[in-house]
Amino acid sequence: MSTTENRAEFGSTLGFILSAAGSAVGLGNIWKFPGKAYACGGGAFLIIYLIIVAVVGTSVMMAEFTIGRKTHRGSVGALRMLNEKFAWIGGLGVLTGFIIVCYYCQVGGWAMYYVAAYITDVQTVWADPMAYFLGMLGANGFPVGALVWGFIFMLLTAFIISHGTAGIEKMSTILMPILFILLIGLMIRACTLPGASEGIKYMLHVDFSTINGTAILTALGQAFFSLSLGMGVMITYASYLSSEDNLVSNTGIVCVLDTLVALFAGFMIIPAVFATGIAPGMGGGFAFATLAGVFMAIPGGQFMGMLFYFLLFFAAVTSSTSILEGTVAFLTEEKGMERKKALVGCCIIMEIVGVLYLLSQVYMNLKGIWISKDGLQFPIFGDFLEYLTDRLLLPLGAFFTTFFVGWIWGPENSIKEATGDGRNKFALAKPYAFVVKYIDPIAIGAIIVAGMVFGMSIS
Ligand code: ALA
Repeated sequence: MSTTENRAEFGSTLGFILSAAGSAVGLGNIWKFPGKAYACGGGAFLIIYLIIVAVVGTSVMMAEFTIGRKTHRGSVGALRMLNEKFAWIGGLGVLTGFIIVCYYCQVGGWAMYYVAAYITDVQTVWADPMAYFLGMLGANGFPVGALVWGFIFMLLTAFIISHGTAGIEKMSTILMPILFILLIGLMIRACTLPGASEGIKYMLHVDFSTINGTAILTALGQAFFSLSLGMGVMITYASYLSSEDNLVSNTGIVCVLDTLVALFAGFMIIPAVFATGIAPGMGGGFAFATLAGVFMAIPGGQFMGMLFYFLLFFAAVTSSTSILEGTVAFLTEEKGMERKKALVGCCIIMEIVGVLYLLSQVYMNLKGIWISKDGLQFPIFGDFLEYLTDRLLLPLGAFFTTFFVGWIWGPENSIKEATGDGRNKFALAKPYAFVVKYIDPIAIGAIIVAGMVFGMSIS
């Protein structure tokens, strides 16, 4: 970003696209998506997910981009500027983003842990990948290593934010294409492992009997998480755009890139699950335990593994910084806090919540520390945090954003901003107005209610 007299701006359209894609492409695509696709029935889930991204995801992203660029403010200030009564919608996004970044930093730390493990101790990882993964989380005692790496990741996120995001922008231009190419290579290798064809069939077999209200809600929340929507990020990023940038094409490019990475990860990990027989009970284990089977099977697997986790770490850090920036911008712009104080305060809360998240994965479970509701058990702060953000707060944030654009600010104003007052073409302007006014609020509202009514379990 270059600094103008009044407010920072992205240096170029490419810089914006890569930064927005860097925010979108992250743990959601590689760590979350394959596990959810696996748990929710493979092919049918993929179709539901693609429809949701194409209709709901693109329109919510367009809504957020236009709000941000129109106002040149962070999410709370942006909503306030358009209509004072609705500033709380921006506040909801900031809160959601902050909850996410608390656990996000822990998982980013796992990626760093695995980079180190692949460099120093790969034979132990490969000897029993699932046991190694669970050991990292506390199966053999207090998870000191994961705790330390999670802490380092969080500090790194805060450090990068304290120095601006220009470096991230530059690194994105080099590392995002490498991640893309590496994922394609690993996907091809995973799909050609003996036994992998069953996994490919699973991903392509469409059986809609596996889809219920909860699976659709899972796909919806996953789409918002993956596209960094409903968490104040895209409004804030677009606020740094100049009026010259084409929001229509930017929306399309970011959505397509993000979805491709999720699909590559799905077609890399699920075939590997079938080929290696390592199917961890929790979705989160796929990117860590299952992939060992792929790396073991390829020449130079140790190096490829190390590179993969390094790029996973990088994808995570470009996302975690974007999410935390939303909270910090809110505290500095809206609450008048000094940037350093805001960062230190955020770090303390993030560490407390993050540590509880980490311990709840395995360690607290082994110690018998659970909360139980209606016969279902949730590890305290573990799955619960993800349910709260992915299935409730993100969809709610998107619901209110589209309601705001559709009924308060008006789709015509959003379209005017999207086209730069008619300078750029927007062939789908009319469908967008219809979707943002009727389809989005009705569909998102119905899915939230259906998902709640039909239960919380995805298995
Ligand atoms: N969009 C980011 C991700 O998918 C948060 O990880």
